[in-house]
Amino acid sequence: MDSIRITGGKRLEGKIPISGAKNSALTLLPCALLTEGKLTLGNLPRLADVDNFSHLLNGLGVSTKVAGVKKGEFGRKMTLSAREIASTVAPYDMVRKMRASILVLGPMLARAGESTVSLPGGCAIGDRPIDLHLKVLEALGAEIELAAGYVKASAPKGRLSGGDYSFPVVSVGATENGLMAAVLASGRSELFNAAREPEIVDLCNLLVAMGGKIDGIGSSHLVIDGVEGLDGCSYDVMPDRIEAGSYACAAGITGGSIELVGARPSDMLAITNALAAAGLVIEFTENGMRVTADKPLRPLAVSTAPYPGFPTDMQAQFMAMLSVAEGQSFLEETIFENRYMHVPELRRMGADIEVHGRSAIVKGGAKLTGAQVMATDLRASMSLVLAGLAAKGETEVLRVYHLDRGYERLEEKLQGVGATIERVSLG
Ligand code: UD1
Repeated sequence: MDSIRITGGKRLEGKIPISGAKNSALTLLPCALLTEGKLTLGNLPRLADVDNFSHLLNGLGVSTKVAGVKKGEFGRKMTLSAREIASTVAPYDMVRKMRASILVLGPMLARAGESTVSLPGGCAIGDRPIDLHLKVLEALGAEIELAAGYVKASAPKGRLSGGDYSFPVVSVGATENGLMAAVLASGRSELFNAAREPEIVDLCNLLVAMGGKIDGIGSSHLVIDGVEGLDGCSYDVMPDRIEAGSYACAAGITGGSIELVGARPSDMLAITNALAAAGLVIEFTENGMRVTADKPLRPLAVSTAPYPGFPTDMQAQFMAMLSVAEGQSFLEETIFENRYMHVPELRRMGADIEVHGRSAIVKGGAKLTGAQVMATDLRASMSLVLAGLAAKGETEVLRVYHLDRGYERLEEKLQGVGATIERVSLG
């Protein structure tokens, strides 16, 4: 297993290219199931989760072809074709590797009239149920059975009718499943209190490009008029706002200046507002934005919330950055329980953080020191990389597979702005 070794203390300066968004890619890929035509997705990030998702789709009968990329180029293009659905079962072996596998449930049901997906197992960031995914599909006319660790959804008469559903809490994944199922239903569907994340907008835009009829895109009230069939098309994945935000924190924690090339600031208002409140200077450039830390960081009070609020996927990285700010910061995690698994590891590096239930107090001014650390999820791992970039001495981040799930060529991008960071193969 590989690890990432960092010698901290360098001010980072330069440009980092921002990749396609992981969370968008993972909801655009299953759209291949909705059409007999060819779906070509560009700007796909090169990530373990994208590979795993395409293997899952292969098992359902979707062929995938990756266009060659030149050396040094980021991203890639994939053409997916599901002329026929060969199997409507997503097995445990695939789903356990990646929770996002649940996103084949809606589109497979819509296209084939049935869909069987293993229930996802335990998750490091708290209990993540899928009840809302099932409820929205039921509202669209599906019959749901749970047996032997699998959920089986079927459409009476082979096609969903469509229907209305009001989400009791905002869920990104359940909104995605609902949308992908509703586009091929025989009637109209209305989703209330739907998630409004930019990745949902990306999904809606793709579905419309394929011939879907959706009103209210970008709002929490989506109206979907089902169509008989969808066509293939070519579509580019949106830039990753969480990757961009993570590298903005790298500028912050090292007192550096980084241009995030290809970032889309309009998707990142809550993040840029928080960065600015922490004292960073944000400049919009022709190709994205530049983030500069030219004075000591200020403490913050931040609470995570569904979009357009501050994303839970940025909480760990901000916590690392705020551990070196001058003063006391307050963080509150309202989306997932148990999402402070990075705290004990940050403490081992010298951060002074107290957790009280869903709140955390970060007593700033820490002089971080390098250590061997490991994390249990993707964003938590990134917070340790950030702490390592600012720490005195050497930091070794173990369990790199978490980072490989969500950060394309992390060490290459950070080396490009002057970091001393390398991947070490432990055999
Ligand atoms: C998605 C992202 C994840 C991100 C999260 C929040 C993907 C593949 N994953 O996760 O990286 O951290 O959004 O932005 O895009 N809930 C239920 N029942 C359900 C579904 C969700 O109770 O059926 C609850 C969850 O426990 C949580 C909240 O709703 O408290 C929001 O979860 P949700 O938005 O669904 O997150 P994911 O789609 O799993």
